[in-house]
Amino acid sequence: MSEKTKRTLPASPSGRDRMAAPGPALTDTLNRPLRDLRISVTDRCNFRCTYCMPKEVFGREYQFLDRADILTFEEITRLARLFVGHGVRKVRITGGEPLLRNDLEKLIAMLARVDGLEDLTLTTNGSLLKSRIRDLKQAGLQRVTVSLDSLDNDVFKAMNDVDFPVERVLEGIEAAVEAGLAPVKVNMVVKKGVNDDSVLDMARYFRERGWTVRFIEYMDVGSSNGWRLDDVVSAAEIVKTINAEMPLEPVDPEYRGEVAQRYRYKDGSGEIGVIASVTQPFCGDCSRARLSADGKLYTCLFATKGHDFRALLRTGKRDDEVAAFLRSVWKTRDDRYSELRATATPSLPKVEMSYVGG
Ligand code: GTP
Ligand code: 5AD
Ligand code: SF4
Ligand code: SF4
Repeated sequence: MSEKTKRTLPASPSGRDRMAAPGPALTDTLNRPLRDLRISVTDRCNFRCTYCMPKEVFGREYQFLDRADILTFEEITRLARLFVGHGVRKVRITGGEPLLRNDLEKLIAMLARVDGLEDLTLTTNGSLLKSRIRDLKQAGLQRVTVSLDSLDNDVFKAMNDVDFPVERVLEGIEAAVEAGLAPVKVNMVVKKGVNDDSVLDMARYFRERGWTVRFIEYMDVGSSNGWRLDDVVSAAEIVKTINAEMPLEPVDPEYRGEVAQRYRYKDGSGEIGVIASVTQPFCGDCSRARLSADGKLYTCLFATKGHDFRALLRTGKRDDEVAAFLRSVWKTRDDRYSELRATATPSLPKVEMSYVGG
């Protein structure tokens, strides 16, 4: 490993403040702008990943949101337009599994027409991607990120817990590449003793194809996954493992507040990312807001309470009134959960990732 790589591994991501974004001056109490809106379009999923929607909690009895409670495409687009007017440049559609939402292509087409939006992307488990990707691309989707936790069928099936085979996710990723959605990124959540043996295989496989894998530290999102610090494999360990076989060097972030720390293979064969939200929190530059499927705005992935925008929309508030609410929420934002994790009270009921979006 080079000196430069060595130095950068355990340190906090120092290059992150290099790229100041232009735009309006709506900032929170820690001087962080609003840049990134993640919109969850459904709280349902056809997987039961053990770290996200464990079957024991998300079983037959589980009360998902009612259809009537979920924002319509018109409501979502109206909010997206207002948010873009306040600095948002990137919208990511999430879930649950977003492709379970009927006619998602229509929403993509509506969002693609919002002036000022520069990046429109989607995070999916890939299971339904193959048949939908062309229409999504045609509607204006620019990029896609696919979650895949192992190339080993036994490991992957044990993690998705619905017996879903690796092959079908790979077909979805390939279809996305063929449709021209590059760069397609692959997200792998690494859980100790469960799929950490799959890290090298994933790196090798996707390096050969030139697609970027991001290795995500297992996080204590929600209250149902039984998270323990002992289950976390640190980003530094992951980089070390890959670097030992395929030498890596760090790459500067693409934009301020980038979640993943990037590394490239020294032989020029592509790059990986690591998302170290447990061991190297990145709250200092966090410009992300999350809108749940029922229209609540969460200013942190680990928030315990959302701000009800649906209530404003459905009681006939004008755009300037909704905008004033948005400004008041963002101006008073002081979240930095990952930085406080050690001292935060784990007993508070946090929202589930499948509800608030990843
Ligand atoms: P790109 O735009 O492609 O760089 O994607 P991104 O950096 O927005 O990454 P993506 O949305 O794929 O996020 C990857 C994963 O990082 C998420 O699924 C979460 O697990 C984690 N993550 C994203 N944003 C946050 C955040 O604000 N806080 C924490 N703690 N984790 C986050
Ligand atoms: N820790 C880290 N990442 C998670 N994801 C879901 N739950 C967790 C967790 N507890 C990831 C998914 C997907 C994205 C939406 O978030 O694997 O890639
Ligand atoms: Fe579904 Fe994604 Fe959660 Fe897995 S991580 S259960 S695919 S929402
Ligand atoms: Fe942002 Fe909260 Fe994640 Fe920190 S923990 S990066 S404030 S979403």
